[in-house]
Amino acid sequence: MAQVAIIMGSASDYPVMKAAKEILDFFGISNHVEVVSAHRTPEKMVAFAKSAKENGYQIIIAGAGGAAHLPGMVASLTTLPVIGVPIKSSNSIDGWDSILSILQMPNGIPVATVALNASKNAGILAARIIGSTDSLIADKMEAYAQQMAAEVALSQKDLN
Ligand code: RP5
Repeated sequence: MAQVAIIMGSASDYPVMKAAKEILDFFGISNHVEVVSAHRTPEKMVAFAKSAKENGYQIIIAGAGGAAHLPGMVASLTTLPVIGVPIKSSNSIDGWDSILSILQMPNGIPVATVALNASKNAGILAARIIGSTDSLIADKMEAYAQQMAAEVALSQKDLN
């Protein structure tokens, strides 16, 4: 049973969304990837979201582009935390449509929206949420942050 569901409106979103899977795999967090479309498979979306908690998921990462209704609709159908990834897709004008469709949720139904195409950050945020109650993941996150800081220090050295 996977801890994190990574869903997206279309398989064409996967080149962007795969970074979420890669970083979750890096942290050793089990995940499941599935195409669930708010518009093309609305009944599948409802069934997926309503059963997500009993299926063992702790967090849902949902990516979509253009008229990006998937993250918000899923959030309205579950009490699990939903992290939204706006995607600059083929039907997106400039990316702002995707961002605003996911970001501007009404009070009561939050979607934690990351930057455009930032599925890696969605995975890291999911890992941080899990790390708030899982000390092994929290330790890995600490090591990850220290590694990043060391890389910044190293890159600075190359400039001089
Ligand atoms: C959205 O429409 C999907 O999430 C995708 O970003 C976009 C385009 O989908 P395709 O036409 O490539 O399948 O619902």
